[in-house]
Amino acid sequence: MKMYVIASILTITLAGCSGKSKEPLYLDANQPVEKRVNDLLGRMTLQEKVAQMSQYVGIEHMKVAEKEMTLEEMKKSHAQGFYPNLHSSELIEMTKSGLIGSFLHVTTTKEANLLQSYAAESRLKIPVLIGIDAIHGTGLYRGATIYPTPIGQAATFEPALIEKASRETALEMRATGTHWTFTPNVEVARDARWGRVGETFGEDPLLVGQMGAATVRGLQTADFTGQDKVIACAKHFIGGSQPINGINGAPCDVSDRTLHEVFMPPFKDCLDAGVFTFMMAHNEVNGVPCHVSKYLMTDVLRNRWNFDGIIVSDWMDLEQVHEKHRTAPTLKDAFVQSVNYGMDMHMHGPYFTDMIVEAVNEGLIPQKRIDDAIRAILTAKFKLGLFENPYIDEEQLTAVLFNAEHRHTALEIARKSITLLKNENNLLPIDRSKYKKIFVTGPNADNQTILGDWAFQQPDSCVTTVIEGLRNVSPQTEFNFFPFGTNLRTMEMSRVLQAKEQARKADLAIVVVGENSMRYMWQDKTCGENVDRYELSLVGLQQQLVEEIYATGVPTIVVLVNGRPLTTEWIADHIPALIEAWEPGSFGGQAIAEVLFGDVNPEGKLPMTIPRDAGQIQTYYNYKQTSKWFKYGTGKSTPLFEFGYGLNYSFFEFSPVKLSAAKMPVDGILTASVEVTNTSQVAGAEVVQMYIKDCYSSVVRPVKELKGYKKVFLNPGEKATVTFEITPKELSFYDIDMKYGVEKGEFEIMIGNSSRDVDLQKEMFEVI
Ligand code: BGC
Repeated sequence: MKMYVIASILTITLAGCSGKSKEPLYLDANQPVEKRVNDLLGRMTLQEKVAQMSQYVGIEHMKVAEKEMTLEEMKKSHAQGFYPNLHSSELIEMTKSGLIGSFLHVTTTKEANLLQSYAAESRLKIPVLIGIDAIHGTGLYRGATIYPTPIGQAATFEPALIEKASRETALEMRATGTHWTFTPNVEVARDARWGRVGETFGEDPLLVGQMGAATVRGLQTADFTGQDKVIACAKHFIGGSQPINGINGAPCDVSDRTLHEVFMPPFKDCLDAGVFTFMMAHNEVNGVPCHVSKYLMTDVLRNRWNFDGIIVSDWMDLEQVHEKHRTAPTLKDAFVQSVNYGMDMHMHGPYFTDMIVEAVNEGLIPQKRIDDAIRAILTAKFKLGLFENPYIDEEQLTAVLFNAEHRHTALEIARKSITLLKNENNLLPIDRSKYKKIFVTGPNADNQTILGDWAFQQPDSCVTTVIEGLRNVSPQTEFNFFPFGTNLRTMEMSRVLQAKEQARKADLAIVVVGENSMRYMWQDKTCGENVDRYELSLVGLQQQLVEEIYATGVPTIVVLVNGRPLTTEWIADHIPALIEAWEPGSFGGQAIAEVLFGDVNPEGKLPMTIPRDAGQIQTYYNYKQTSKWFKYGTGKSTPLFEFGYGLNYSFFEFSPVKLSAAKMPVDGILTASVEVTNTSQVAGAEVVQMYIKDCYSSVVRPVKELKGYKKVFLNPGEKATVTFEITPKELSFYDIDMKYGVEKGEFEIMIGNSSRDVDLQKEMFEVI
């Protein structure tokens, strides 16, 4: 490969110039990583060390900002990479001088290779670690496979499938020159107003943790050694998913108990799966900004959990400790506090290196703290094989990117994530012989909203929109499509009425509505990072559109494409068939069409409760009894759809729960089984869910908590026995003294196909 040859010549020339025939130990790939790290560490100046802790946005990213924004705008912008008083050309020189350890937002292979070639010119030739937000596929790269967003992934209740997709993402990342993805986001999402819900796995700590751990295993495998692995990042630590007002980065006020019981376990699950990096959260928790929290970084991550990987800051958040949180009077104070408490990498920009070097020289930061940070960063670079070959072969890219296997996985996850919420009189699946003329409309029927946030615009050939999927799946049907553009806010009533007139001529109508999370459309977006809302109805005239189409009397199906729960009470009450597709990725339109026509039997289950109104928030399923003490004075008190809920075209019956014993010793094991029968004529999969309630306890416990789930596939008439093991782990919690363990007494076990009481078979047992 061309770049590699240039670099090899460069290496030989440099070795020749220095007059030494023998290469330093750290460049010898046969040496153990630890020895290589120590050897290199011993050769580094303090400035070179701290430079490894410094990350910058890619040069091309900066150039866009430099071209499109005034200096004033750049100063105010949070979204664009920019460094006032530092031009992109200066970054090249800094990289050549070994003054940058890592980049993010490098979105072309050409740039990735170029940056590595600059780094290869530095004194110690340390390659740069390139990070990217490959959240559901490496979506910031054009032409990549885009899998459903994590909220849809969670709806599959199949961690093994998510592990597979993550492994494929790692391959696509390495093929495009990136080595570190800032995923999984394992924040427990309890507030649908927060625009980032779509990049989480929903509201349940067990499901979030298992999906997060599967993502880590797929990306890193058992150990991330090798040129086809990447490192993962558990983020954002912690509490950002419970902002006081729904706004990204707003304060989180949370009890220590909830922090430990709800928010921390998924992060611990990722750590147990080997995650090598953690990202701190924008927000403060109980008054302390996460980025300078001794408690979170030193006490929990380093000391309690023995985490020795890389802690990275979020987007210029150390700067915010000084500028917004204002707990550090100067920027240097913020840097110093954070590094002292465990921060290893600064995302991103100038001043950090100089100020940290100065602080070490002044004795404000121990040299050992810096060395520990560098050890972790260099370990990653050695293990990932960057010293051996930092470059990528652009010609080999095509074999990996968007290849047949990856496309298949993306489609399979999309099929399994789609959740059927209502199907009155079995309107679905669509009977092709009855409904020959179908009217299709809605702003999300023919665009890339199906990809969700963290994806740039993809080539049209890589995306199957809903209308395209419908035409593929049912070529014999006559589809009349009425477009609405992508801007939900500027929909016109005259167009809505035109759509209504056209709908009258059809046998059936499909209306595809929801939100717009398209990252590159900052003005049009209604969902995604930094797009939070205080009410969750359909934006623009989408609700009117649905109502007008329904008013024609033509049977109407609504498909939702959205990255967070929407309050669609009227639709749930009136429209006979309702599908929640989340953001189903590259082949979302294909999967939706297959479900609509019954080629695929839907099996998705809600990973998050859907409220009737934003005022019901927080309305998660694992609430405490007193949350429902009284009813709201107006409207219903129940949510619109509960966690774990989802219909399919089959019907499953559950037998009563059978326990292996009525009593369980406090350190014992019990099994609970149910028999599930497919009593319908359609083969299908069901997610069997087990919930447990502690009947009396020293502190208030939730009405139920998910403690296990298993998916079974059953042919018509087929039965299966599903068995769960109950161990102390399933029954433990933090007691009145914050001691973790099981309290003796009665427990209720509930097994069924959603968290709704009516869907659960219940049995009691006693811990003795
Ligand atoms: C987000 C992170 C992301 C980072 C880099 C921040 O704004 O909060 O989740 O990894 O940007 O893109």
